[in-house]
Amino acid sequence: MKKIEAIIRPSKLKAIQQGLKDVDIPCLTVLPASGTGLQKSFTKIYRGTEQSLTLQQRTMIMCVVSDENLDKCVNVILKFGSDGEVGDGKIFIYNVEDAIRMSTGVRGHEAIH
Ligand SMILES: Nc1ncnc2c1ncn2[C@@H]1O[C@H](COP(=O)(O)OP(=O)(O)OP(=O)(O)O)[C@@H](O)[C@H]1O
Ligand SMILES: [Mg+2]
Repeated sequence: MKKIEAIIRPSKLKAIQQGLKDVDIPCLTVLPASGTGLQKSFTKIYRGTEQSLTLQQRTMIMCVVSDENLDKCVNVILKFGSDGEVGDGKIFIYNVEDAIRMSTGVRGHEAIH
């Protein structure tokens, strides 16, 4: 199992969520986020300290999927989340040890969909 954390533009959330549902990945967690990427450190040089501390409003999508669904999930996020411009966001992928559906006690990959 893999955990995907995607930090996206908030305006892309609806399309990504629909895209994931369409490829049978309906379960996800969404968190409000704020952050800064690489180009802010260049901004700092030109505009001073105050600008470099500015945070962009972002949305974090977190989903745990089976190994076989990883590429499908990432491809949907890239397809519906990218404009091909700086600030599009970032995707981080982690290994997941275990999962438990609390209503049934079912563990492992059966618990994630
Ligand atoms: N290394 C990182 N660790 C944690 N969060 C990050 C990291 N890089 C980017 N982010 C988050 O992703 C958001 C979008 O990042 P962004 O796309 O601007 O990254 P970048 O490295 O500046 O690349 P780009 O050239 O596309 O702008 C940031 O606002 C921040 O919340
Ligand atoms: Mg950036």
